[in-house]
Amino acid sequence: MAIRQLRFEGDPLLRKKSREVTEINDRIKSLVEDMKETMYKEDGVGLAAPQIGILRRVVVIDVGDGTIELINPEFLYQEGEQIDIEGCLSVPGKSGKVKRPQKVKVRYMDLEGNEKIIEGTGLLAIALCHEIDHLNGILFIDKMIDSEK
Ligand code: NI
Repeated sequence: MAIRQLRFEGDPLLRKKSREVTEINDRIKSLVEDMKETMYKEDGVGLAAPQIGILRRVVVIDVGDGTIELINPEFLYQEGEQIDIEGCLSVPGKSGKVKRPQKVKVRYMDLEGNEKIIEGTGLLAIALCHEIDHLNGILFIDKMIDSEK
């Protein structure tokens, strides 16, 4: 396990679309371990693989209820609307209001290769949207409706 170097806004890699994971091998498992370690060290509630320079569709999230590891996450549906202040480890020193769905349902693969479905509201819905955006090269500042700083 290792803490990985974060990529920051302005790095063109953060703007690229990440590739699907086709096989959950040891490399993917150690990537997930490193992502968790990096997220906890940096005090984040989520981290996507491109944030440490890896263009694969892998996300880790912890909104306070334990770690969720998501491989190839995709939305099944989104519903409602909420506006909250977001920040991002790749955009240090910035935060602002972003409009997100109130509730989302996401399908993903766990580290054993099982298909799972997660439903999130509130902060979990925001985290899922924010991290999946990273996999498509989108940062929260692209969607910011009001800057805090
Ligand atoms: Ni982020």
